[in-house]
Amino acid sequence: MAYELGQHPHWMHKEIHEQPAAVERALTGRIDDRFATAHLGGLGLSPRETREIRRVVILGCGSAYLAGRLGAQLVEEVARIPAVAEPAAEFRYRNPVIEPDTLYVAVSQSGETYDTLAAVQEVQRKGGRVVGVVGKVGSAIARECGSGIYLHAGPEVSVTSTKTYTATAVAFALLALHLGRVRDLSPADGRRLIAGLRALPGQITEILASEERIRDVAARWASYPGMLYVGRVRGAVVASEGALKLKEVAYLHAEAYPASELKHGPLALISPDRPVVAVIPDDELRDKNLGTVAEVKARDGQVLAVGHDLELKASADEVLVVPRNERELDPILLGIPLQLLAYHAAVTLGHDVDRPRNLAKSVTVE
Ligand code: G6P
Repeated sequence: MAYELGQHPHWMHKEIHEQPAAVERALTGRIDDRFATAHLGGLGLSPRETREIRRVVILGCGSAYLAGRLGAQLVEEVARIPAVAEPAAEFRYRNPVIEPDTLYVAVSQSGETYDTLAAVQEVQRKGGRVVGVVGKVGSAIARECGSGIYLHAGPEVSVTSTKTYTATAVAFALLALHLGRVRDLSPADGRRLIAGLRALPGQITEILASEERIRDVAARWASYPGMLYVGRVRGAVVASEGALKLKEVAYLHAEAYPASELKHGPLALISPDRPVVAVIPDDELRDKNLGTVAEVKARDGQVLAVGHDLELKASADEVLVVPRNERELDPILLGIPLQLLAYHAAVTLGHDVDRPRNLAKSVTVE
């Protein structure tokens, strides 16, 4: 069946709204309730090989890189394997040390991004093991890796990634569960994460139902010259991806910064016309994040808090609430309102949302 816009004004809007179904598909056939783990047959790693992994290095470009950063966080937190993500081009040009007990993971929605493909080849040339987390079946990166996880997110037409970003994050949550259960993650924690994963589609639907409220904030804030996005640990990648989306489609300057670093420089930027988007998960860093909000308010800055409860209203000017999941998975949900914020800011400003200037869906040249 042809992929059609239907009643949606833009592909980006359609694809944001397709996320519950995309997540559902990414999970289909991959949950093993009996052993509280994830089945990832395409990975091609035996339990012994899996146990021998000492480090995970994730490579990708743009939103794929940022989804990889969220993936690294999930792998390290859930499976307790040291994990990092790096932009694929930076990696391939710095003559990286390739280690035999490191699992390299190439992330790409299109499977055709030149720098990511070149990074895969660099790993392989030095004898490293690389698997793909890829959207397009049979694409160059999928073929080069030969094993990995497909997203099953369906086509994505809009240049900016939304549902493939979320589906990639879910694929990494499955990978983290799988790696964790071969190591020290308990069956109880495995079951807890599985329940969390299964709750995601319904919770994303709930967030999408609050679109009007997000549109209202976006319409008012689109007139500012730029925004600062801040978050700590689980919120930091969410802030980075939110800022990238705003740059890509609304052409507004958006800088993402770890909230903890604000006082070491970016606090000088705070003014009433450069609002701050603060990502505030309900975790052990909540009070520190509220401290950051207070620091911004004390300097006459405006704050939009994205978190899990309306109590944030006591600190911030605007609040976007998303449902709570498990702490490890909350960053997936916290990113959704920021996609809609960027989308509606772009629409307010009259930009070509699906084909932002100077950008291409897939960059197959250097
Ligand atoms: C381009 C797109 C980005 C995308 C990046 C990586 O720059 O504009 O939206 O994140 O490529 O694409 P990939 O297909 O490798 O995920």
